[in-house]
Amino acid sequence: MKVMKIEGGNTLSGTIKISGAKNSSVALIPASLLADSDVTICNVPEITDTDVLCEMLEYLGADVRRASESVVISPEKIENKVIPKEFTSKLRASYYFMGALLGKKKHVEIYLPGGCSIGARPIDLHLKGFESLGATITNEGEKYIVDAKELNGANIYLDIASVGATINIMLAAVLAKGKTIIDNAAKEPEIVNIATYLNNMGARITGAGTSEIRITGVEKLHGCFHEVIPDRIEAGTYVIIGALIGKDLNIYNIIPEHIEALTSKLQEMGVPLKIESDSIIVSSKDEYKPSRIKTLGYPGFPTDLQQPFSVLASKCNGKLIVQETIWENRFMHLPELEKMGMKTEKNGMIATFVGPNKLVGCEVKATDLRAGAAMVAAALVAEGTTTITNIEHILRGYEGIVEKLTDVGAKIKIEEI
Ligand code: UD1
Repeated sequence: MKVMKIEGGNTLSGTIKISGAKNSSVALIPASLLADSDVTICNVPEITDTDVLCEMLEYLGADVRRASESVVISPEKIENKVIPKEFTSKLRASYYFMGALLGKKKHVEIYLPGGCSIGARPIDLHLKGFESLGATITNEGEKYIVDAKELNGANIYLDIASVGATINIMLAAVLAKGKTIIDNAAKEPEIVNIATYLNNMGARITGAGTSEIRITGVEKLHGCFHEVIPDRIEAGTYVIIGALIGKDLNIYNIIPEHIEALTSKLQEMGVPLKIESDSIIVSSKDEYKPSRIKTLGYPGFPTDLQQPFSVLASKCNGKLIVQETIWENRFMHLPELEKMGMKTEKNGMIATFVGPNKLVGCEVKATDLRAGAAMVAAALVAEGTTTITNIEHILRGYEGIVEKLTDVGAKIKIEEI
């Protein structure tokens, strides 16, 4: 078993370069099979989630070549095979093969997706979208069979502005006949990045980044070159770490507007930030003002940052209140933070962290990806050594986390025990 050991209390300074966005890459890789010739995607992070998706493409018959940060995919020989549970159970984003294969081959057989247990995570909106485009869906145990004689554009209203459903419907609709409108679409920057990728291939998508996306189906998509946007959640995590224990810590290669919900909150609390065009320089202070956040879809406060953000309560002169509105099970980090000395209370989807409190290293668990990031943040500021278990969750989402933190002065290592 692999564990992460962090000796806390070391001030972090220097530069951390942010990688390409995980949540973009995990859709861009499956989307590649829609093209009829080679695609090159650069700035793809080397994390286990992208590795698994590349393996899935190879399993389907694509040729996938990775050269440092770029991935070159030749999708010409893609076959329509059943995608087994061994792949899909490893990550949630495996469901993007549904939309992509449906669009390209009009037939998909795939097992239920896995991923972090942060809530019920249904896929009803994805399926409803596919049905609107003319597909029929049947279940054989945990396997979904999605089939269509042909796909026809449709008006689709999403009851919830779901990121996954918006992307999956775009993937299925780009090769459908006629016009599709996705109303109440999610507006996350990753959606814009996927739409740009598809447009680079020859798709006709407008309105990505707004709540109404319009797609005019085309007959074929060709190869292209595309760049993944910087990971706003990775960037936000390191900015929070800088607010905890940084001294002029430079978080670089980012799009600061993508994390404005976080940075404006941090400034309100008194965190010294210097925001440049593609970087944020952050230093920590001993005491911050109490605060309150509510997670929302973009451009609201991202749910993926609320867990690391809560660690700032250790320096708050009063309560830090977090209202989660997206995932009902996203407070699994509370008992772990309590072990380290954080005072917490939970009432339904609202958690209160009572600061200030001194965190002390001990053994804690990364219950899910972003809870794991919260544990890393807490361990870096804690007194003594923290051992984090279940770190496979962290490695799914943070490229080179040990190297990046070591380079700025952290004492962090992964050990096999
Ligand atoms: C994506 C992100 C995840 C982030 C989340 C919200 C990826 C790979 N993951 O997840 O990191 O936390 O957006 O910003 O991009 N829902 C339904 N039915 C559906 C689909 C979703 O009820 O068919 C609900 C979910 O249970 C949840 C809400 O809609 O309560 C938002 O989910 P969604 O935006 O789909 O999240 P993901 O795409 O899974």
